[in-house]
Amino acid sequence: MRHRFLSAFRQAFFVGLFCGHFVGTGSTMLTTQQGQNMVSRVIPVDPFDLVIFGGTGDLARRKILPALFRRFCSGQVPSGAQIIGAARAGFSTDGYRDFVAQAIREFSGGRACEDGTLEGFLSCLDYVAIDASGDQGWGDLAARITNDRVRAFYFSVGPRLFGDLAERIHSYGMASAQSRIVVEKPFGHDLDSAIALNKTLAAHFDEGQIYRIDHYLGKETVQNLMAVRFGNMLFEPLWNSQYVDHIQITVAETVGVGGRGDYYDRAGAMRDMMQNHMMQLLCLIAMEPPAKFDPDSVRDEKLKVIRALDSVEPHHIARGQYLAQDGDEFAHPSYREAVGDDRSRTESYIALKTHVSNWRWAGTPFYLRTGKRLKARSSVINVMFKDAPHSIFGEEAGRHANLLSIRLQPNEGITLKVTIKEPGQGGMRLMDVPLDMSFAEALGPDGEDPPDAYERLIMDVIRGNQTLFMRGDEVEAAWAWTDPIIAGWQARGEVPKPYDSGSAGPGDADQLMARDKREWRGINP
Ligand code: BG6
Repeated sequence: MRHRFLSAFRQAFFVGLFCGHFVGTGSTMLTTQQGQNMVSRVIPVDPFDLVIFGGTGDLARRKILPALFRRFCSGQVPSGAQIIGAARAGFSTDGYRDFVAQAIREFSGGRACEDGTLEGFLSCLDYVAIDASGDQGWGDLAARITNDRVRAFYFSVGPRLFGDLAERIHSYGMASAQSRIVVEKPFGHDLDSAIALNKTLAAHFDEGQIYRIDHYLGKETVQNLMAVRFGNMLFEPLWNSQYVDHIQITVAETVGVGGRGDYYDRAGAMRDMMQNHMMQLLCLIAMEPPAKFDPDSVRDEKLKVIRALDSVEPHHIARGQYLAQDGDEFAHPSYREAVGDDRSRTESYIALKTHVSNWRWAGTPFYLRTGKRLKARSSVINVMFKDAPHSIFGEEAGRHANLLSIRLQPNEGITLKVTIKEPGQGGMRLMDVPLDMSFAEALGPDGEDPPDAYERLIMDVIRGNQTLFMRGDEVEAAWAWTDPIIAGWQARGEVPKPYDSGSAGPGDADQLMARDKREWRGINP
């Protein structure tokens, strides 16, 4: 009986609420479990040239090329598009095509694609051996660039080469009004280096030509945050400190630092995740409704949030480092072993509390935590509402508060915890039940495999849409908030606390919450 009530409510509530916002890409008709049709549209683009500097690197292999292939399969990459890998290695065009075919087989997620499509995609590919900071290969590359079309240059290389690449794109006559450059994080190591990088790029390109990638913004569910907030009348009136007690943002990973120890030990969770991905999630949750869904309207609002962030008190920070794990199957080294420094003070986990000091949010704390080797992979935003101001049901009904939980990955979906009467006899007793919607369930099989973030972001570059990319001032503001936090713990000589792999992180993070008489929601897969 209770089950029937909940599922009927869930259908009427969630499906009606959200399905209008799931018009994605691809050419198929999606049908929800409830039989609603959603037309998924391919937005066509004109033939373009895309040069991938670092075209043989890890990011190109794992993400960029498989993403392009998927969009080729869905018919969005037009034949006539030219994708040129550029790197030091001396590949022939055929050799590079073989290399890419291998990467596609390994990393395209086995997405079905008709026979012959891979060959079609490979025929768009070319390769130029190039020296980023010398002259070798540049004349050759310039000769292959097509006039009068969009030309995008993907800097999938370390930031120290950005200046050299930008300068040569200009001096070899490849810059035009239609040129765009794409840069990856880390965008700077601190505020000064980010300002310097912005200056280097600005010397050769306008801000409107610079696409700074934060791949979290390309995730389907992260964009859905905006749909949920600004596509529904329901939540917005409650979205403020009058009704929201606090907000928890968790990005938990089960992976360790893997083979990236060198980079990671210089960055730590604060620079690697908090300054960028977590910050973007916080912005999307906290920002005012932009007047339009266009690049500057959205980015202006995000910037205001970052600039309104309070500095973080030392006792509102918890840092940790994961310990080794024993056991045949799951054994792995500790953080310090993984980075090869048994005295490392870099954190693989951070939790902190901050405030967005503006009219909407004054008094509502934001608790953010992220870490590696935690008990489950789970990115979730929990909006915890306040208790009802007065209970008409008396003491025995207990205290109940609503919770809106937005799961970003895995098992993407939304749960709203509501209070109802406990069924049956025994007076007016209350209980909390979840109205739970999994996107995969609501959208049917087509909702189970959302496009990879890189697919959307690369095609947005080609289309010239910067909405999901970070503007220079946004990155600088994020560093301006981050730098003093890091400088603070360095000056205090703090060492991160060890935590067990497979746990929820160090005990300090729980105490941070307990001091406020609150607790973290569990980290569940
Ligand atoms: C990257 C970080 O930007 O994001 C990694 O450098 C992290 O350390 C990764 O593991 C997480 O991304 P995702 O998409 O797996 O959540």
